[in-house]
Amino acid sequence: MRLFSGLFSADMAIDLGTANTLVYIRGKGIVLNEPSVVAYHVKDGVKTVLAVGEDAKLMLGRTPGSIEAIRPMREGVIADFDVAEEMIKHFIRKVHRRTSLSKPKIIVCVPHGATPVEKRAIRQSVLSAGARRAGLIAEPIAAAIGAGMPITDPTGNMVVDIGGGTTEVAVLSLGDIVYARSVRVGGDRMDEGIISYLRRQHNLLIGEATAERIKTSIGTARMPDDGRGQALMIRGRDLLNGVPKETEITQAQVAEALAEPVQQICEAVMIALEATPPDLAADIVDRGVMLTGGGALLGDLDLALREQTGLAITVADEPLRCVAIGTGKALEFENQLRHVIDYDS
Ligand SMILES: Nc1ncnc2c1ncn2[C@@H]1O[C@H](COP(=O)(O)OP(=O)(O)OP(=O)(O)O)[C@@H](O)[C@H]1O
Ligand SMILES: [Mg+2]
Repeated sequence: MRLFSGLFSADMAIDLGTANTLVYIRGKGIVLNEPSVVAYHVKDGVKTVLAVGEDAKLMLGRTPGSIEAIRPMREGVIADFDVAEEMIKHFIRKVHRRTSLSKPKIIVCVPHGATPVEKRAIRQSVLSAGARRAGLIAEPIAAAIGAGMPITDPTGNMVVDIGGGTTEVAVLSLGDIVYARSVRVGGDRMDEGIISYLRRQHNLLIGEATAERIKTSIGTARMPDDGRGQALMIRGRDLLNGVPKETEITQAQVAEALAEPVQQICEAVMIALEATPPDLAADIVDRGVMLTGGGALLGDLDLALREQTGLAITVADEPLRCVAIGTGKALEFENQLRHVIDYDS
């Protein structure tokens, strides 16, 4: 068997995220985890791919005129079709054995709120990237499976997936979605919040990469108890005289900068609770809420959500990998989970 295994296709599950793309191979687990970024070299109007993933992300915001670094996914769906396809192809090629005789079957997760047109675009780009068959799975279901929630039980389970582009709040029972709501608030909005706060309050211009670094190192959803918290030295451009400037930013300031997106996430959870049938809502009060996605790592977000909703909040074990693990499990246990995968055929 072993001798021949390389000849057969490796079926895959892909979490095509706004911020990160992960690829899971059946029987192997996650084999690739890279930023969803493509960098092009542009000469005389002709574009050639320069870098994809990690290397391309390093170029974001730092490119000369001849290089363009693009994030093809926005708010969970494809914003730039050609670039997305290029990226998917690149990642598949990177993990797929060239010796394989047959094309792989690929399952991709899509936001619950994706329109039929957006779903078709994702399916198409996976097929033209070399898939034999393309199945779609709703991201909240994948997130819940990946977080180990008992989604096939007849009880209400609430999962909140906070990604780069969107936050999806879903209530699941008996293996399907009872209620789901997608709000276009996630890590990107948090970064923008930090950028505009520094511009307004400090006349300091910083780029997206710096904003993300501030968020992941000292970001917090809640005012620190001492009213200040930790501090971080940051560099940017002084908007008054145009020269580089260094300044200190505290956790209290970051909490203020993030207040709006955090509030919107809390509200989405409250609205979901109100719309959930009473018996399922009672289950959620009993069992609490599971947070997944990179945004779940924001400091004290669980506390802020608990204070505002009164619910017990759990952050999943590996929030950045949950959706990919869940999509992978759907592939591994396809017979039991067939109804959650949409093959459109
Ligand atoms: N420690 C951290 N604190 C706060 N945010 C974080 C942390 N680590 C990562 N993030 C953020 O998580 C986001 C990426 O999360 P994730 O990979 O789940 O998103 P995605 O799946 O690509 O996006 P989407 O699901 O919206 O398409 C980024 O915005 C990143 O800055
Ligand atoms: Mg995601």
